[in-house]
Amino acid sequence: MGDGVRVETRLQAIPLHADRGISLARGEGCYLWDDGGRRYLDLMTNYGVNLLGHSHPQVTAAIDRQASLLTNAHQSFDTPARQEFLDALAGFLPPSLSRISFANSGAEAIEAAMKYTRVATGRTGIIATHRAYHGRTFGALSATSDAKYREPFMPMLEGTRHVPFDNLPAMAEAIDESTAAVIIEPIQGEGGIRVPADGYLQGLRELCTANGALLICDEIQTGFRTGAPLAVTREGIVPDILCLSKSIANGLPIGVTIVTEAVSERVPKGSHGGTFSGNPLVCAAGVATLQVLADEHLHSQAAEKGERFQQRVRELGLSQIREVRGRGLLLAVELKKPATPVIKAMQERGVLVLPAGGTVIRFLPSILIEDAQLDEGIGALVEAVSRAG
Ligand SMILES: Cc1ncc(COP(=O)(O)O)c(C=O)c1O
Repeated sequence: MGDGVRVETRLQAIPLHADRGISLARGEGCYLWDDGGRRYLDLMTNYGVNLLGHSHPQVTAAIDRQASLLTNAHQSFDTPARQEFLDALAGFLPPSLSRISFANSGAEAIEAAMKYTRVATGRTGIIATHRAYHGRTFGALSATSDAKYREPFMPMLEGTRHVPFDNLPAMAEAIDESTAAVIIEPIQGEGGIRVPADGYLQGLRELCTANGALLICDEIQTGFRTGAPLAVTREGIVPDILCLSKSIANGLPIGVTIVTEAVSERVPKGSHGGTFSGNPLVCAAGVATLQVLADEHLHSQAAEKGERFQQRVRELGLSQIREVRGRGLLLAVELKKPATPVIKAMQERGVLVLPAGGTVIRFLPSILIEDAQLDEGIGALVEAVSRAG
């Protein structure tokens, strides 16, 4: 390695993922470098994980410090790093969300949420929405809607169904006394950065309450990115279960499922858990991340930066662009043609972005991104859109 050439080993990865053709060696701030030394502007932050950019000094120092103290402590033990993480996270949560369990990923956090709804309600029905993405373990996959993820592994969890997103009458028709929970992304991420109409989340809350069902809010992608710590509280509503992951430890694997006291008291002791969950190393990274977010009120800057981005792209008036949408730094440019060639052309120009469905380019930059860097990304988009025809 070191010269950008991939070494073939006997053990190869199962070819599950698209190959971006880059071997990433290091990151700093909003830039990544490949192993040949080429620099990339990172507008995807590993699918929304590195909210504070790469190698953030406070997070790196916290990881270093914790790594030399203690990296693992099963949850049958207390540990100061986990306690500090709980204190730091509590400051961002509505008071009724007072109980938490730890996981190592977004899908695992969803898995726990889905299990808890069964014991809390004695029901098994889960209603998710079309274009929803909640992860790819069996429970989470059952709530995810895209056939390409589901069909190879059928059958899914019994009792899980999908209705159109942002459509209250469809949800009202589907929800009944067998529904344990409705699961929702307050803004759909993987499904194309789809922002529902004002009042939709409020309507879901009311439907859940009226039918004795729980509301699970999946803020794994939206958390701290939309101009507020949580996208769901914008409408003043509180879910029964909240899942966070991606950005809350700025790159270390963590997921959390946060529930009300009423849900928590129905979950039997020993019924869920995991060896690595809530380990002090990720908790220390989480404390540093949440402290930076709190001290610098960074989540509020996401709103202005995202608004400016949307305005600038709209002003370009490019005929190839169908729509620009999103909230905060959860952004999409929908094209009138396939996104993949444009994403490839942007990568060739040194800018990394993501797809979100066939014609959508997704931007999930760091919250510390500068206007000039976003403009560099827009420049690459313009050139790539024109070049790709
Ligand atoms: C909204 C949402 N939920 C769940 C997940 C699954 O998280 P993970 O990939 O960590 O399992 C993702 C990942 O993209 C997501 O965006």
